[in-house]
Amino acid sequence: MVNNYDTLWLDNDIKEVKYIDQTKLPNELVIKSTKNPDEMYQAIKRLEVRGAPAIGVFAALSMYVLSLQIHKNNLKDFVDEFLRNADYLESSRPTAVNLSWALNCMKDTLNQLVVKRYGVDISEEFATDISLDENLRYDIENALHNKAISIWEKDIAVCRQIGENGLEFIQEGDGILTHCNAGKLATIRYGTATAPIYLAHEKGIKIKVFCDETRPLLQGARLTAYELTEAGIDTTLQCDNMVASLMAAGKIQSVFVGCDRVAANGDVANKIGTNGVAIIAKHFNIPFYVCAPTSTIDINTKTGQDIVIEQRNSLEVTKMWYNNEMSHRDVNVYNPAFDVTKNDLITAIITEKGIITKDFAKGLVTLMGQA
Ligand code: MRU
Repeated sequence: MVNNYDTLWLDNDIKEVKYIDQTKLPNELVIKSTKNPDEMYQAIKRLEVRGAPAIGVFAALSMYVLSLQIHKNNLKDFVDEFLRNADYLESSRPTAVNLSWALNCMKDTLNQLVVKRYGVDISEEFATDISLDENLRYDIENALHNKAISIWEKDIAVCRQIGENGLEFIQEGDGILTHCNAGKLATIRYGTATAPIYLAHEKGIKIKVFCDETRPLLQGARLTAYELTEAGIDTTLQCDNMVASLMAAGKIQSVFVGCDRVAANGDVANKIGTNGVAIIAKHFNIPFYVCAPTSTIDINTKTGQDIVIEQRNSLEVTKMWYNNEMSHRDVNVYNPAFDVTKNDLITAIITEKGIITKDFAKGLVTLMGQA
């Protein structure tokens, strides 16, 4: 039962990060364990760990585990290697802002400690003669450990709160469509888009969830349909090109999706196909809700056009789920991992700090001021 496990966690006895390898689901439940930077990088790149919040938490725990393996005698050398690890993990995937957010939290934690003790910022040149004695090492490790664990714990609380906040948009008997996996597996527990769904289920509100298969990597079929069915929720799987048919048949009352980055104007990047779902929902006058922790909001990115969209290997489209390539091997393939949904297609952005329903630019600034 995948729901008996958290998506990922720190094994403090062996000082490694453990995680469910999501590429193996739904057929095998494989728990992997790592303390190796290349394995961590590949785990994110290959989508063994995926979903914006989960990637962020994984990176935070990884930074702590990697810091234990930096054996240097002076602080400057420690900091240099620490920052190299952060840059390396950050280069694994570009779109989900949670990755850089979590890495920045870990960098800030180290920085605060250094500033407090030595009055210098780690991004500046500082004296190389500060020795990394046992006491300093202990304090650094302790601070990084506590920060990583707090990011992990907060993810659970934040997702639960998104669920509480989103519940007001769910009525008994609703058909809810979701795209990709913004579920438990994309976070530590609850998910973002699925949090209101899990909470509705907990409260005995009867709903039907319709999961888009989500070509090309099938996160909807392999992960969302799987985790919701295991949780005992009434779940239906459909191919991505069946959304309009479902909506025309009156089976969908709302759409709930997650996202990888919210720009300052309220445009959102999410799994490829989300924009199409939003356009169709608008046509049928169906509300379209985006669920996001505030760690996914990027006020420094002005609009959706400024979001870097990850392009992935063509074989994911032509070969991955087939015994042989199903298209001419010389054909050009278009395989962006995400698309951007413009703010005018979004009914509300549901965060743990509150709900924004109109004037997203203003609402996001106010919300982030509080966050
Ligand atoms: O490529 P993936 O599987 O990491 O894409 C995931 C998504 O697009 C999710 O919808 C998004 O990260 C939100 S997860 C709460």
